[in-house]
Amino acid sequence: MRSRQPTGSADGWPGRRRLTRREVLLAGTGVLGAAGVGVLAAGPGAAATPIGPHSGQVRAVDAGRVRSGRTVELTRTAQVADVHLGGGQAASTWVYDGQLPGPEIRVRRGDVLRLRLANQLPDPTGIHWHGLAIRNDMDGVPGVTMPLVSPGAGFCYDFVVPDAGTYWYHSHVGLQLDRGLYGALIVEDPNEPSPYDRDTTLIFDDWLDGIGQTPQSVYDTLRRTGMTAMGSAGMTAMGSAGMSGSAAGAVPSSLGGDAGDVRYPLLLVNGKNPADPSLVIARPGQRLRLRLVNAGADTAFRVAVGGHRLTVTHADGFPVRPVVVDTLLIGMGERYDVLVTAGDGVFPIVGYAEGKGGTALAVLQTSSGARPPAGVLPRELTGRMLAYTDLQPAAGTGLAERPAASTLPVALSFDGNGYRWMINGRTFDNSKPLRVRSGQRVQLSFRNNTMMFHPMHLHGHTFALNPPAGPGTRKDTVIIKPMQTVTVELDAANPGQWVLHCHNAYHQEGGMMTTLSYVA
Ligand code: C2O
Ligand code: CU
Ligand code: CU
Repeated sequence: MRSRQPTGSADGWPGRRRLTRREVLLAGTGVLGAAGVGVLAAGPGAAATPIGPHSGQVRAVDAGRVRSGRTVELTRTAQVADVHLGGGQAASTWVYDGQLPGPEIRVRRGDVLRLRLANQLPDPTGIHWHGLAIRNDMDGVPGVTMPLVSPGAGFCYDFVVPDAGTYWYHSHVGLQLDRGLYGALIVEDPNEPSPYDRDTTLIFDDWLDGIGQTPQSVYDTLRRTGMTAMGSAGMTAMGSAGMSGSAAGAVPSSLGGDAGDVRYPLLLVNGKNPADPSLVIARPGQRLRLRLVNAGADTAFRVAVGGHRLTVTHADGFPVRPVVVDTLLIGMGERYDVLVTAGDGVFPIVGYAEGKGGTALAVLQTSSGARPPAGVLPRELTGRMLAYTDLQPAAGTGLAERPAASTLPVALSFDGNGYRWMINGRTFDNSKPLRVRSGQRVQLSFRNNTMMFHPMHLHGHTFALNPPAGPGTRKDTVIIKPMQTVTVELDAANPGQWVLHCHNAYHQEGGMMTTLSYVA
């Protein structure tokens, strides 16, 4: 099949490779490579035509995006490499450009990002631009918005970057994210005030690849045992370096249920374990903007900086009215930007694995002194914690109040028989898309019918929290706690086919994904 590729180009387009089982199933629904011609048989009632990633409507909306006139040209190579995780620990894994995390991308709002991905992995891959409301055909989801990029092939992503903030890029194929295929994507706004002296990105991650197990072997065990309990799969991979000094339960869990399915031997900040933490060097009194990203697959991190309070300024890239807290919980896929005024000394920046125990560590150093011990638990971890209800959009960034055209239920459930995670009773290979029409205000009503939290993420949109009390803070990923109901709303202003999924990589692979499908 040929689809028009107005700006990007694929040399790994189908024909050269087998379709995956998932794609074959999607092809049956008319979503795969949808060029606006397939008929989507989604539930009872009238059939509707999905607006495919290469449709005229996608191009028309893209033509209206504000452009800076600048183009940033980059390449990234997805490859197998040995990475050094600190303290003598090395792992052979899958990363971008031989580095963990992949090299940070910095662009400005309105820039064209033209990035050529070269795939030197033994498996097909692709890049997704998490949080960015870009044109649908560049969203990097195999089988939904683009074909996989075959081993030895490449793909040129080419799109206008719409909004400033802290974003990230990662593979959207299978469990590749839980190897090491991720990096930060920072979008600057030249007009935004910058009341800080330093701008530092801290990416938190849970790690097991290449040091005993692979994500795939962990997943296979989960499927075989159907277990959700931690330890069934990951326990055998448990080392000791990352877990020393802080047993599970040292800090009470705010997640109210199971905190994950996988126990990780290492927890990292910027690719380093606590035995050899990455350093943030500053001078006393300097203001730091810390961009916190959770690239983990199965771990929420409770983040605190010893001896410091955090002024939260952005959530998932979008500015909020500043709120001061001691600690915050960051689910997989979420980002927070915080301002910190550096004290005089050496301070731990800790990410505590919520409900699991164990810590990721970086170190803020402004003068000489002893490095904090690996398992340190600063008391800020049990201080005032950020709640979603603390977050209010900064002026001019909220959604206007408007009645919703529809409320789409998104029920989350689990079947231990085969480790199936479902949305509205179905796994992704069998999913019923959630249909919307361009221009509509739409609510998504999440209902978590499981005893585990799910950080639910929608592509291509930044929804608002807290309706019906009025639209609140903008986010693209929201934690739904066990048995909780959370409603968000959005304007359907970015036509195409967008996946909605749990950002727990194992739940996503286990089926907890569906499509927000624009139809005509
Ligand atoms: Cu971080 Cu489907 O994405
Ligand atoms: Cu995303
Ligand atoms: Cu989940």
